[in-house]
Amino acid sequence: SGYRQHEDEGKRKHMWEEKQLHKAVKKDEDVDEIKLPGADRYEFVFDDNAMVDYEEQKEVLPEKDSEQEIHLLKQLEIEQERITSVQETRKVLPVYGYRKELLEAIKEHQTLIIVGETGSGKTTQLPQYLVEDGYTQGGKFRIAVTQPRRVAATAVAARVADEMDVVLGKEVGYSIRFEDKTMADRTILKYMTDGMLLREFLVDPELQKYSCIMIDEAHERTLATDILLGLLKDILPHRKDLKLLISSATMNATKFSRFFNNCPIFNVPGRRFPVDIHYTVQPEANYLHAVISTVFQIHTKEPVPGDILVFLTGQDEIENIAEKMEMIAGKLGEKAMPLIITPIYANLPQDQQNRIFIPTPPSCRKVVLATNIAETSLTVEGIKYVVDPGYVKENSFVPSTGMTQLLTVPCSRASVDQRAGRAGRVGPGKCYRIFTKWSYYNELELMPRPEIVRTNLSSVVLLLLSLGITNLVNFQLLDKPSVSSLSKSLENLYLLGALNSKGTITKLGRIMCEFPCEPEFAKVLHTAATHEMCHGVLEECIDIVAMLHETKSLFMGSKNQNPGLRIIGQTDSDHMLYWEIYDEWRNSNYSKMWCQDHKLQYKTLCRVRNIRDQLLQCADKLGLAALNESARRELVDKQSGSALTARITKCFISGFPMNIAQLGINSYRTVGKKSTSGLDVYIHPSSVVFQSKRDGKKPCKFVLYQQLMLTSKEFIRDCLPIIKESWLEEMVPQLFRSR
Ligand code: CDP
Ligand code: MG
Repeated sequence: SGYRQHEDEGKRKHMWEEKQLHKAVKKDEDVDEIKLPGADRYEFVFDDNAMVDYEEQKEVLPEKDSEQEIHLLKQLEIEQERITSVQETRKVLPVYGYRKELLEAIKEHQTLIIVGETGSGKTTQLPQYLVEDGYTQGGKFRIAVTQPRRVAATAVAARVADEMDVVLGKEVGYSIRFEDKTMADRTILKYMTDGMLLREFLVDPELQKYSCIMIDEAHERTLATDILLGLLKDILPHRKDLKLLISSATMNATKFSRFFNNCPIFNVPGRRFPVDIHYTVQPEANYLHAVISTVFQIHTKEPVPGDILVFLTGQDEIENIAEKMEMIAGKLGEKAMPLIITPIYANLPQDQQNRIFIPTPPSCRKVVLATNIAETSLTVEGIKYVVDPGYVKENSFVPSTGMTQLLTVPCSRASVDQRAGRAGRVGPGKCYRIFTKWSYYNELELMPRPEIVRTNLSSVVLLLLSLGITNLVNFQLLDKPSVSSLSKSLENLYLLGALNSKGTITKLGRIMCEFPCEPEFAKVLHTAATHEMCHGVLEECIDIVAMLHETKSLFMGSKNQNPGLRIIGQTDSDHMLYWEIYDEWRNSNYSKMWCQDHKLQYKTLCRVRNIRDQLLQCADKLGLAALNESARRELVDKQSGSALTARITKCFISGFPMNIAQLGINSYRTVGKKSTSGLDVYIHPSSVVFQSKRDGKKPCKFVLYQQLMLTSKEFIRDCLPIIKESWLEEMVPQLFRSR
């Protein structure tokens, strides 16, 4: 095997110095080159003729009524058993042993930090204890539990509704952006993303509806969590009856305590079995390849039960690996046990997300391919093996250029330790790290960097200003963002017209705050409804903005190979392609068949429709829709295709003036402030713009992009060519005057 436990450090050091491969950026293209591991390296042989055809098991329906009745009775019985067993499982969780002490500590202290091993029951149990202890006063008050991730918020809410035996969306609900599954007069326990609670401050600055707030997964230190902690610290003195629980994995608890005047830390001792750590002997050039080999190495050599959890960086990677594994597992056929491959990432459709929680049948093995959502937010039972390449995808904002990049970076030591711990819940486990021991001790950061020091702050700055917090420098935070990134975001907001030259929020700024999307998108919509040079296209822009929120899971399979794309798309920009897709789908009367024919995800489009409706409602509430209507009436006859494109392009320029790149010799180069030098960027192969270049069309001198990502190259994604250079100056003269 390629692993040796506890490699001698010194011996390996030179190797790392030679190659530094752990830092090597993984190449997207490599994924397709993965070959089946050969028999020489592994002790199992693939036989190409051994392909197994699976037969679909059809559901057998009961034939007679009486049988149907028996069936129903059985179901009821099972249901009854399930409820008692759910109550039993609640009692075996580590927090249950501390229920009384916890409730006493909460009664005594306004703020309490709760630290416990992942899976000990913090998220699902504590809020129920609070309900049981009367903190909601029979429905008078609510309890909010924040989560950094949407998937966790929805999954946990479903689980808790189940445990409390209520219908999800009534007593127990969740609220994530664009999806509110709560009832105003009924929900007492509300799981929500941290960003959603932040937005509640806008309408209810003292959080009067709530008696308890639990900031969960605080150690993740997302931007919204950090800002929430700052705001809560602010309101606690005059909301003496409000309880604040901060729950965190073992890292960093004292920092939270210090921030809240040395409030007590409650430790829930967890049980955890030992986990053997295995490191690679040498750096692996292609970690995806190594992941696949390792999984099959485990699968063919280790006994069951014992499921595998693999940490990957994102959807693309997960889908790629899942496909390869399906293929290999298929070829292995009966030479190995069945391997159940279940992905989990933020954009995965709900019904598929739930698959990770289904218990693995006997003599089978489950492999869960997860983003770092499985690091602490979700617990999958039965994991015995963890495979960890040690990477994570992170947003990184570079103040000097004003750009946000999506980077794949090595995890911190705290993170990889947390990941390893996931193998030791059911019994002794093993963790395979696809990096060297030397790299662990010498290369990895101790702690992850909090998001606030590495992200674009525009939307939270705008939110704080609209809450009347004008002294941003003195606003108390666990970690302060750099002055340069603060001033960059102020500058950006000024450029968008959300602030005036004195730094005070403008009327437009307040409107932008109302929209449930980034200020940049809100500006696009505002321009579309009101700007004299391009109004009348609000609805088209709303369609596009809604689509841009969901592009990651729009196409079935990879976007590069999507035949549907070419069928629909006669356009030269991703934005117009998205619009055409949505428009065609609308014309098909939101048909599911149409989606299948065009290889588009029906569920994603339904989400887009929901987002679109919410944005339109918001525009309507703000009076923008009416303004747009009157502009539109003048326009109807004159609206040719190219006029429409021109108007839409201008609206996006007004919202994203910092996301423009200019054609250079081999690539595009970003343009922002005249003083900065810019960055060479390449149009991503999935873009329509890339394809029209391949078709021999002349590239546009300027292009607007929605996303910048770094993989093997700096790629820009979701691109909109700017057909006339003069539009830049027309829309954003402050930035583009006489270039
Ligand atoms: O928050 P913490 O990590 O301390 O634990 P939790 O999320 O409350 O999980 C407690 C238990 O509930 C774990 O054993 C999970 O496996 C289980 N659980 C589940 O089976 N399904 C869910 N959707 C969520 C939790
Ligand atoms: Mg939790």
